[in-house]
Amino acid sequence: MKNKVLLFSFFLLYASIPTNAREVGLGYYKHKGTCSCSDAESIVKSVVEEALKKDRGVGAALIRLLFHDCFVRGCDCSVLLDKSARNPYPEKQAKINIGLGGFEVIDEAKILLEKRCPGVVSCADILAFAARDAVEILNGIGYNVTAGRLDGKVSSASEADQNLPPPTFNRQQLEDLFVTKKGLTVEDLVVLSGAHTIGQSHCSSFTNRLYPNIDPTLDRDFANNNLRMQCPQNAYVDGVVNLDHVTPDALDSQYYKNVLDLNTLFSSDWSLLTSQETRDLVVEYATKPGDWEADFAVSMPKLSNLNLITNPAEGEIRKCCRAVNNY
Ligand code: HEM
Repeated sequence: MKNKVLLFSFFLLYASIPTNAREVGLGYYKHKGTCSCSDAESIVKSVVEEALKKDRGVGAALIRLLFHDCFVRGCDCSVLLDKSARNPYPEKQAKINIGLGGFEVIDEAKILLEKRCPGVVSCADILAFAARDAVEILNGIGYNVTAGRLDGKVSSASEADQNLPPPTFNRQQLEDLFVTKKGLTVEDLVVLSGAHTIGQSHCSSFTNRLYPNIDPTLDRDFANNNLRMQCPQNAYVDGVVNLDHVTPDALDSQYYKNVLDLNTLFSSDWSLLTSQETRDLVVEYATKPGDWEADFAVSMPKLSNLNLITNPAEGEIRKCCRAVNNY
């Protein structure tokens, strides 16, 4: 009997310890009492709209920024942390993060939100909202994003290198990363790669396929008449090239036609032709209008929800997205 009472007291004690973990949900900032900031999503959207009016390229940057954030320590905005005396090699310093952009959009939304509801909206949620809004503005593809993410306190260039795919990855390496390591599916891999229908790349990310010889997995005419012209050998400046040479500014399914035509920049794109499963998906998205758009609206929320920090012991609401609090 004595033991039973002891056990029961332990149970009561355990049950009364608050875990304080945030419950991630839709419309988070509308319903969460002290965490409420009912205009949060509309404020982010208006900032993204303004930014895209000036430069549609910002939309591509935001979509890539989300991917590069969520694959490294989850969607915790670790990618936004600037280098500092305490942390001289954050993710931003990694070579694999070449060309990353969209930071100013998140900064601007954060400044407005800190004025409206200080200390409430995380940078990680702002980034997830902003990428969703960019997708909607660019293409009309709508999807829901849950919120309640906390911002991380750690950012490391070497972790970025270990968790993000270089353009030289083959299909097996991509599947190991997306499926085995990140818990996504082969379909997510093929669908999300379709983001390469928009935005730009530096020449240095693919000139290994142009010189000294043209990679046989790249269309010869495309390489000679297009890519070699834009990226001369031993050029002084690392130029930039559109990822999709047919409809460069449109978030559409043209990417898959380019893959089939061997007209994509990276061998990772070409590698989607190297298994029956991935090839069938490429053919489907290239030929069946609407299929890719519908599936992109399913895979993007999955990407936006990778390994969220919800326990306040592990994360925080940053005051400024570029630095941890108490820096
Ligand atoms: C599958 C493996 C992937 C590889 C190997 C890869 C690699 C790259 C590389 C090398 C660049 C050009 C960087 C530069 O030189 O400036 C790039 C650009 C881009 N990537 Fe990926 N990527 C992958 C997947 C993704 C995913 C999953 C997304 C988003 C869902 C994405 C979105 C983008 C976008 C939008 C750009 C253009 C960015 C801009 O113009 O600012 N990529 N990617």
